[in-house]
Amino acid sequence: MSDNGQTAAVPLQTLMPPQRRAELTRSPRRSPRALSPQAALRSVMSQFATGVTVLTAGSGSTCHGMTANAFTSVSLDPPMVLCCVSRAARMHELIMSAHSFAVSILGADQKSVARYFADWQRPSGRAQFDAVHWERGQRTGAPLLSGALAWVECELVKAYDGGDHSIFLGDVLQAQRNQDAAAAAPGSGSDALLFFAGDFHRLPKAS
Ligand SMILES: Cc1cc2nc3c(=O)[nH]c(=O)nc-3n(C[C@H](O)[C@H](O)[C@H](O)COP(=O)(O)O)c2cc1C
Repeated sequence: MSDNGQTAAVPLQTLMPPQRRAELTRSPRRSPRALSPQAALRSVMSQFATGVTVLTAGSGSTCHGMTANAFTSVSLDPPMVLCCVSRAARMHELIMSAHSFAVSILGADQKSVARYFADWQRPSGRAQFDAVHWERGQRTGAPLLSGALAWVECELVKAYDGGDHSIFLGDVLQAQRNQDAAAAAPGSGSDALLFFAGDFHRLPKAS
């Protein structure tokens, strides 16, 4: 109470612990912790470990491949998967025109393959596959990378708007595990390739 019997207005911040007060009064631009929403999401998602795939689409001279970790299964019945592709990626146009895509799930020994298909300086078209071993997918004609842990071939059923990416939903036409990799001993090529904290890692196969 004040001298005249009225309640004095107490600035809200004086009721706060000093540390919280300091946080509120500090300029967000000067704070080293102030990340843009994009940088904050990128940083948070770096803590979400994923597998690594190479998406492929097209056949003949127009085929193309791109490293992607935004890949997941959606439905078992009917079998469906999805992948998210940047609108700026050449892959985007390829999937839209081919109306199909294939997925090679990479093993731990394929780190260099993952780097290669993420490098914008790689050759375009069929020539980019001269650097790797591959086979033509039976259902889509898209290249399937040899030595991968598994492969999925899909027909594109829907493309959803996903901001600066498109979400491509695919009906699974064929899904196959690499029997050589499945039978291999622990520590061999059957280990998984993971992407975590901005780098590639090997996940040993459970023995
Ligand atoms: C581990 C890793 C995962 C990636 N995942 C995706 C993804 O899910 N979607 C995407 O659009 N780009 C992804 N990229 C980036 C593309 O691989 C890269 O931009 C590529 O050069 C695009 O190729 P393109 O423009 O020739 O199609 C990823 C890159 C790395 C290294």
